[in-house]
Amino acid sequence: MTKEICFPDLILHHALPCLLLLLLGISISASKVEDYQTYIIHMDHSHKPASFLTHESWHRSVLKSLSYPADEEEMLLYSYNHVIHGFSARLTALQLSEIEKSPAHLATYPESFGKLFTTHSPKFLGLKSKSGLWPAASYGEGIIIGIIDTGIWPESDSFSDNGMPPVPERWKGQCENGTAFSPSACNKKLIGARSFSKGLKAAGRNISSESDYDSARDFFGHGTHTSSTAAVNHVLGVSQFGYARGTARGVAPRAHIAMYKVLWETDTLKSAASDVLAGMDQAITDGVDIMSLSLGFDQTPFFKDVIAIGSLSAIQKGTVVVCAAGISYYPESIYIVDAPLYYGKGNVNKTTCNMGALNPDEVSGKVILCDNGTIDVYGQMMEVNRVGAHAAIFLTDTSDLDAEDYSIPSLTLPTSYGILIREYVTGWKKPMLKRMKFVLTEFGTKPAPQVASFSSRGPDSISPGILKPDILAPGVDVLAAVAPNIPYMEIGNYDLVTDYALYSGTSMAAPHVAGVAALLKAVHKDWSPAAVRSAIMTTAYTIDNTGTILKDENTGLPATPLEFGAGHINPNKAMDPGLIYEINFQDYVEFLCGIGYDEKQIKIVLRQSKWNCSQVSTDLNYPSFVAIITNETVKSFSRVVTNVGEKEAVYHAILDFPTGMKIRTEPSTLTFTDKYQKQGFVLSVEIDGNAPGVIYGYLKWIDQHNHIVSSPVVVIKT
Ligand SMILES: *[C@@H]1O[C@H](CO)[C@@H](O)[C@H](O)[C@H]1NC(C)=O
Ligand SMILES: *[C@@H]1O[C@H](CO)[C@@H](O)[C@H](O)[C@H]1NC(C)=O
Ligand SMILES: *[C@@H]1O[C@H](CO)[C@@H](O)[C@H](O)[C@H]1NC(C)=O
Ligand SMILES: *[C@@H]1O[C@H](CO)[C@@H](O)[C@H](O)[C@H]1NC(C)=O
Ligand SMILES: *[C@@H]1O[C@H](CO)[C@@H](O)[C@H](O)[C@H]1NC(C)=O
Ligand SMILES: *[C@@H]1O[C@H](CO)[C@@H](O)[C@H](O)[C@H]1NC(C)=O
Repeated sequence: MTKEICFPDLILHHALPCLLLLLLGISISASKVEDYQTYIIHMDHSHKPASFLTHESWHRSVLKSLSYPADEEEMLLYSYNHVIHGFSARLTALQLSEIEKSPAHLATYPESFGKLFTTHSPKFLGLKSKSGLWPAASYGEGIIIGIIDTGIWPESDSFSDNGMPPVPERWKGQCENGTAFSPSACNKKLIGARSFSKGLKAAGRNISSESDYDSARDFFGHGTHTSSTAAVNHVLGVSQFGYARGTARGVAPRAHIAMYKVLWETDTLKSAASDVLAGMDQAITDGVDIMSLSLGFDQTPFFKDVIAIGSLSAIQKGTVVVCAAGISYYPESIYIVDAPLYYGKGNVNKTTCNMGALNPDEVSGKVILCDNGTIDVYGQMMEVNRVGAHAAIFLTDTSDLDAEDYSIPSLTLPTSYGILIREYVTGWKKPMLKRMKFVLTEFGTKPAPQVASFSSRGPDSISPGILKPDILAPGVDVLAAVAPNIPYMEIGNYDLVTDYALYSGTSMAAPHVAGVAALLKAVHKDWSPAAVRSAIMTTAYTIDNTGTILKDENTGLPATPLEFGAGHINPNKAMDPGLIYEINFQDYVEFLCGIGYDEKQIKIVLRQSKWNCSQVSTDLNYPSFVAIITNETVKSFSRVVTNVGEKEAVYHAILDFPTGMKIRTEPSTLTFTDKYQKQGFVLSVEIDGNAPGVIYGYLKWIDQHNHIVSSPVVVIKT
């Protein structure tokens, strides 16, 4: 079996944050529990009477003063300090309307529920011990990564603190006691672990001991996997049942980890917005440097999106927030009706491999060839397993099979190989399968990297004027630690358990970016979240290992920045980007004014009552350019770049565009005489009337010190 290792997928890397996620989610109301529903209440903190020493005491008194007050202890779920100013509580409709009449009330968000998107990666990222970002960043030493996820399995070798530096003194977090989780589980690697489930419980969801641990312990394995990907120390000789054997290494092996469990397995894996906010709020209070979220909610405008508001708040405090873009599966495959089956060991017969098609008496103990699984190889796999076949050969061009899809010894071959095998099986009297040789893990498969089929694609519907996704990172078949409590797969009557497993998803890409962000912060302590993102984006690459543009796994055709953003993450280059596109808080303020938010909406997003909208702009100082145009043919953007390379540098604009498009910059040369000096420029893009619907090129600022500061420039005609 040949498995491709490490295809990248899309990731949105913080800022106008998590705001811009392409998310899956479900909105269900917290019904059934009497007349109470959970609401997240956003308050204007400037209305807090001075007599209340803390916001929480004020929130409690607001609840106490309601008519028919229940015990305010029972009503209040969380009081928030950073992510929003406000609280979450269980309220009746009447109580809610009383709160909404208060002048201090800013906004109400009904509880909503989000879900998950679901060791060779560092090598694939080009990280090396001898040179580049790893040694420069001391492997992430001193940086704290907060993971908002399903919990953690602290005993995993991945979280051993052998050789780890001490817990940073500034750390304010803690390791919470709970079901099967003792505070002593934490160490110098895992420095904090907490869980947040009040919102889910208030919605009537039980956390039963059969389906989850009521503590920061991971039941599902996902949080263990993402934590391990971001920051595992070296663990030798790990594998998933022999596949992808090697040394497990996180992207930032010396960074510390703190787990904030907000995703729970009840009937399905879910998280309540009130719990996610509480986790993010705590992470900010505790002092994480990087926050990684692999979960999402329905997409809504920023002022209605509490997670987005929380992310902006985190960014304002200098915390880098990395969010996974949603996974969008393409339509479910259709069952194939007439795939011929051949089975070996003397008998040759033709039937189909589909569910219910095989007779166990005839095929048990035989090797089955399932021809043409292009459409539904999964159904065929289940069928051969059901009938107890000895082994199977699948002819399929589906490339997204995972190791756990196989339950009997199998070979998966492209349909183009099928002719030979079919000839052999049908042409020989007694076709025999003598030996199956497994190529355990194949590296250097081509083309790589690719945009994974499940990756979400732009443009972003909430803010189409900002190119999303930002960046690709490895997300397919990532080997990392998992929770060994539940069987990973079933083979015959055996349940198999593993400490390490290959997972795929945008969820797996997020911790890679979080790890790289940790390394960059370790080298450049003064960089803002926007600077970290800019460095990652402008140094990304767009050419795969066959020397052509990154391809879309779905189509096999060259992808565009709408699929891969700036390109594939390239950590060593990101360490020394030359120029950065800085965005400060005032830029976000002006952006919000520019996109036409009213005063109340801006107040909600900014969590403050005073701001200055004097320089309205609809464009952020973003390291990529996207123009959505209707009938106009020219569009201009203003940008400011900051020199973070050598003191003296002269950058020339190299413009790369196809027929039908022109890009210009004014000026075309930027001269810097000092570090941190800023220079502005205007980029204009012009297209022909008959240009295709999506057309793109690149702006590259190149200096004499070999810095290449690259930005995609995309025009979408609507
Ligand atoms: C820790 O949590 C467990 C499980 O909830 C509980 O049985 C135990 O008493 C707790 N220990 C402390 C010190 O609170
Ligand atoms: C939660 O657990 C309780 C006690 O076991 C049970 O009565 C109740 O039906 C459960 N609720 C749900 C939604 O499963
Ligand atoms: C082929 O399959 C059919 C239907 O399952 C069965 O009747 C027939 O005997 C089989 N032929 C051989 C050669 O096994
Ligand atoms: C596989 O089946 C599909 C759909 O029926 C068909 O289009 C395709 O040509 C088949 N491929 C081969 C190699 O037989
Ligand atoms: C608002 O910003 C403009 C330009 O940045 C500045 O001139 C003005 O003084 C600011 N106003 C206030 C009230 O801060
Ligand atoms: C674009 O077309 C619309 C409707 O056809 C028209 O109202 C508008 O003025 C046009 N804008 C420009 C810039 O030509």
